[in-house]
Amino acid sequence: MHRWWRDAVIYQVYVRSFLDSTGDGIGDLAGVRAGLPYLKKLGVNGIWLSPFYPSPQHDHGYDVADYCDVDPTFGDLAEFDQLMAAAGRLGIRVLLDIVPNHCSSEHPWFKEALAAQPGSPARDRFHFADGRGPDGSEPPNNWHAMFGGPAWTRVTEADGRLGQWYLHMFTPDQPDWNWRNPEIGAEFDRVLRFWLDRGVDGFRIDVAAGLFKHPELPDSPDPEADARTRDSVNPLAWNQPEVHDVWRHWRAVCEEYTARDGSERLLVGEVSVPTAREHARYVRHDELHQAFFFDLLSAPWSDDAFHKVISEAMQDIAGTGSTVTWVLNNHDQVRTVTRYGEPTPEGSGLGPARARAAALLMLALPGAAYIYQGEELGLPEVIDLPDEVLTDPIFRRTGNRDRVRDGCRVPLPWSGQASPFGFTSGTESARPWLPQPDYFAEYATDRALADTRSFWHLYRDGLQLRATLPQLGEGSLRWLDTQPGVLAFVRGDGLVCAVNFGTVPVPAPVPGTPLLASGPCPTGVLPGSTAAWWINDL
Ligand code: GLC
Repeated sequence: MHRWWRDAVIYQVYVRSFLDSTGDGIGDLAGVRAGLPYLKKLGVNGIWLSPFYPSPQHDHGYDVADYCDVDPTFGDLAEFDQLMAAAGRLGIRVLLDIVPNHCSSEHPWFKEALAAQPGSPARDRFHFADGRGPDGSEPPNNWHAMFGGPAWTRVTEADGRLGQWYLHMFTPDQPDWNWRNPEIGAEFDRVLRFWLDRGVDGFRIDVAAGLFKHPELPDSPDPEADARTRDSVNPLAWNQPEVHDVWRHWRAVCEEYTARDGSERLLVGEVSVPTAREHARYVRHDELHQAFFFDLLSAPWSDDAFHKVISEAMQDIAGTGSTVTWVLNNHDQVRTVTRYGEPTPEGSGLGPARARAAALLMLALPGAAYIYQGEELGLPEVIDLPDEVLTDPIFRRTGNRDRVRDGCRVPLPWSGQASPFGFTSGTESARPWLPQPDYFAEYATDRALADTRSFWHLYRDGLQLRATLPQLGEGSLRWLDTQPGVLAFVRGDGLVCAVNFGTVPVPAPVPGTPLLASGPCPTGVLPGSTAAWWINDL
């Protein structure tokens, strides 16, 4: 059995911002196909495609109206098949993003539920309930939605009167499925098989600690906790024990396909739960293969914090059958170069140096790694987008307050000196769906490829070494004793990775010239905000 996923490096393609082939200002599947040679050159093992299914795009595709088709904005099934074929020829695996916790309010089953009577089978596919108070005008419980506002919306019944409420843990455009109804599981079986039959290598599972809610839907003692933390912390709405049966079943479906050709189909979950121990329950031998380990992403830039999360991850994953799934960036988070310290417009400063060091650290850790598009260019977060262009539903749902996720979703710069930087062939009237700042010129891929000091070369070199050095990838690590502010560990027989979290140079923990370093690194010295790899027998 080929267990390729255990130390794979997967590149997250946020399709609408990757590359636009039609000139409408929105990236598409043909654009992804055109970008595959670029990704091959970078050296990733696979791609994960953000949702491209038919959707009104209220949450950029995480509101799915049809799970088995392609939205015309992104192409069609024939284009998808061509993308699969092209990726197959290049040896690039393809993961899809599957969204089982909720659908779109435009999904035919939700429309059917709205038209049906309270208590009908059509309504039982979702969480419909009568309101509280004398006239049912208060929501059935006190839960708040993750993106702000109540988690319930009241519907108008067929007779024109206000009636029941339905549950949505995200926006009202995203009604939650009722997984206690067996029809839902059966429908998702069909969806999985539809795409597996088309050759996909697996799925990234959206909100994988969701799906089931407490059967009684009781009030929460802290109803605003999800919205406040923007995390799934309401213990009545997330992480219910029944969800593990679903993952066991999905794993069995994957195993069926694996049995046909010996290549594993991967399930990687977006699992947000309170502890590393809880997290490990999702990746037991017969459940998900992997679950993103977000603690590295949320760790502040400090040796203590990184040491703690890495040690915990290694400890808790042991014995599960999984490997740790490292991630520093994705389409929901402020990009590392900005998170670790505001970069200058030319891309220098502490943030970029730390982001480069973090990348080398991540690529040296045991397990798999996920890279978010633009990370390999060192793209900063775009922090000054004007209000009127913001499209993240969180912004509107918080009364135009929280500018959270648009800044990491700005379309990629590919070439040239001015927007659209080769992202779209479109004319003035079809500009990129989010405006690209002028300074994106510094980060365009053509420039990055031509400059050996670029982020791109660092990622490419790191990936090449991962592909060739037996010490990297799956396995264990051994920490070395170091001075405060510095982390160092050994992989296999003799690959040392060290990171200086401070700002002043320290003596390198091992002699000799590094194999690869995230910045200028004279022999015997590890400068501040720098990581390096050495081969050494320690
Ligand atoms: C996940 C996705 C996010 C989306 C949410 C609702 O957290 O990563 O982008 O908005 O689920 O589907």
